[in-house]
Amino acid sequence: MKRRTDQQRSRLAAHVFVCTTDRDAEYACCADAGAEETLEAVKTWLRERNAFWSPIGVSETSCLALCSEGGTAITIQPRDEWYSDVRPEDVPALLEREFGPDAEDVAPG
Ligand code: FES
Repeated sequence: MKRRTDQQRSRLAAHVFVCTTDRDAEYACCADAGAEETLEAVKTWLRERNAFWSPIGVSETSCLALCSEGGTAITIQPRDEWYSDVRPEDVPALLEREFGPDAEDVAPG
């Protein structure tokens, strides 16, 4: 086991977690609400600003307990920001609000 906290702290200012949970149940899940498209929109926005993975990480995650038919759940850590009902078209405004128009605001929130 290797502890790599210092490496990640120096590389990552924030981490965007996008729920892509799919479930065969009567309850809403992010996969049925456009999660893959929302995830791609997050990656694209960051790539276009040369901020994808350094300094802003992106990962798929399991259920964030914000399930909705209206869109995908996202959390941004360590800022402790939480969103539900995110549609792909919402992503630019959401990320601009969090990180600024050029993803330059990467100080811990
Ligand atoms: S399935 Fe995405 S928050 Fe629950």
